[in-house]
Amino acid sequence: MDDKHTQILKELGFTIDKSMMTNEYWKKRAAEALALTTQDRDVYGCLDHTVGEGVQLFDVEGTEYLDVTGGVAVRALGLRNKSLLEFEERILDVVHELPGMDFDAIPQTLLAERVMGITPGNHKKQVAFTTSGGRAVEGCLKSALDLSNKRRVVAFRPAFHGRTGYALALTASNSRHKSGFPQGLDVIRVPYPYCYRCPYNTNAEDCSLECVEELRYALQVEGNDIAITVMEPICGEGGLIVPPSKAVQGIYDLTREVGAYFMSDEVQAGMGRTGKWCAIENHGVVPDYVSMGKAIGGGYPMGASIGPSPMFSGIARHSETFSAEPKMSLLSLWVIKTLEDGEYLRKNRENGEYLMKRLNELRDRHEVVGDIRGIGLMIGVEFVKDKKSKEKDPKLRNSIVKNAVQVQKMWMLGAGQNVIRFTPSYIISRDNIDDAVDRLDRAIKASV
Ligand SMILES: Cc1ncc(COP(=O)(O)O)c(C=O)c1O
Repeated sequence: MDDKHTQILKELGFTIDKSMMTNEYWKKRAAEALALTTQDRDVYGCLDHTVGEGVQLFDVEGTEYLDVTGGVAVRALGLRNKSLLEFEERILDVVHELPGMDFDAIPQTLLAERVMGITPGNHKKQVAFTTSGGRAVEGCLKSALDLSNKRRVVAFRPAFHGRTGYALALTASNSRHKSGFPQGLDVIRVPYPYCYRCPYNTNAEDCSLECVEELRYALQVEGNDIAITVMEPICGEGGLIVPPSKAVQGIYDLTREVGAYFMSDEVQAGMGRTGKWCAIENHGVVPDYVSMGKAIGGGYPMGASIGPSPMFSGIARHSETFSAEPKMSLLSLWVIKTLEDGEYLRKNRENGEYLMKRLNELRDRHEVVGDIRGIGLMIGVEFVKDKKSKEKDPKLRNSIVKNAVQVQKMWMLGAGQNVIRFTPSYIISRDNIDDAVDRLDRAIKASV
């Protein structure tokens, strides 16, 4: 942390001296003061938020890490992107306090029009902005309940859609998130199409879409009065699973057959990460609803629920005080334009193919690497006891993540029970990719 920052903290009444700058010191204070963290403090250090650039992160002891999480898919353009910082300074100068959704403002309207333009389909749409991904999911859900007058929904296992209210009701990726909390929605839950662990024991060649038939059966026996089917186009948090497009299309068709809406939760996979603005485009499906979050805000809290127009039966059916206030809207417009001008969608596809190729080399080399899957810059590596049994090895996965972070100095995250995920910033270079794969290779060798 540089002097400029310690000076700011001093002005705020805090004295930070050099002896305090250890991970252990700040993790201890954090553990006492912060009610929650989603990650294990035994693995990760305390980040120094004042330094870093691109895909480089630093902890408070000055240790440098190669970041392959992209700030959990938030920092599309990397850390401390210079053009973003310059743009931010300029808008700070012009934007004065103004709330988001309660009154009209030009940036918010322009952003809504822009966002509708990057979501699939030419049908008439509308947008409700939010301050998080979970709320973007809930905005879509509330709209679908409102418009359909139906109360039940279809969701998958595993699935992650957020940790509050209706979003939590859809989530099923880790019992820690859910157990003990009442279910806010009536959910019909079916298995997510997961070819590597197909519950019907079929393989791609002889698959007759049993997962779609499972949904048909569920609707027959549980009732088909559903408002909406909510699906991640790539299951992220639940294990980085890429569903086969024909299964997504089958689920979409069946949803439409019973007169319900289909929603693609693009909070993690969207905003160009997979080489398309929305990851559902990879499956050839045009959803009625899209939820966006994470990268859309250029690093600030922002989300969007996009749905058929009119999205609600009347005014004030839904709102959030701070959503898409002008500064955030302008930043978001800047992010979209920069991704377009910089041809990041094409780059993500090409860099993703390269990362996939390099990771496949690891699968060939290591008996414990069971599966590599992904689209664009959203890739998962699944760890097993051995390739034949495919038995999940969560302990090994945890050791690999710990070694990757603490020894190889690569900031990385798990997903599901035995998977690690790559969701790097879009500015990642081929050299960074080679470096990341080498570090992972060493972490696997050290952990088996
Ligand atoms: C697919 C998906 N939906 C929703 C969410 C929730 O987003 P937030 O944490 O911003 O509420 C996440 C977060 O990881 C996500 O991956």
